Amino acid sequence: MFGYGSLIWRPDFPYIERRVATVRGFTRRFWQGSHDHRGTPQAPGRVVTLINDAMLECTGMAYRLHADIVAATFEQLDYREKNGYERHPVELNFEDGSSTPGLVYIAQAGNFAFTGDAPLEELAEVIAKSIGPSGNNWNYLYELAAALRELDINDDHVFELEAVVRKLRADY
Ligand code: SIN
Repeated sequence: MFGYGSLIWRPDFPYIERRVATVRGFTRRFWQGSHDHRGTPQAPGRVVTLINDAMLECTGMAYRLHADIVAATFEQLDYREKNGYERHPVELNFEDGSSTPGLVYIAQAGNFAFTGDAPLEELAEVIAKSIGPSGNNWNYLYELAAALRELDINDDHVFELEAVVRKLRADY
């Protein structure tokens, strides 16, 4: 299973091992509305999804799950990712050149909570204010940025957004 958002820094499910991995043909974007974790249906926050782009790739974390409890693990993950995400097969590429088939949760364009592209400032304004049952939206962004930095993964979209949100929060 491949995680590229909260599944990198908050894997609250059992796994055997985890490794940094890359999926090709996708990029990570804060283009998915969050009604149930970092916002509400009335005031959705913004969380990441993967957007198709043949020229780009997304680096995140691959988890090897326990075969004997894999159904229960995915049941738990399906519930966590229920706000517009679906499981998709994907090829996971590792730093040593090896690869393996895996699954990833993607909230596809057009799902009920999809928000799509927006100017960075607009996105930042929403993230800097939204709060949901799982906590505030800016911490989701900060945790993701910190996890990517720790893993030495560059992501301009995430880091630029983080800088704008930190500035907005400092001004509140
Ligand atoms: C993921 O982390 O892979 C999916 C998006 C999220 O839960 O933040």
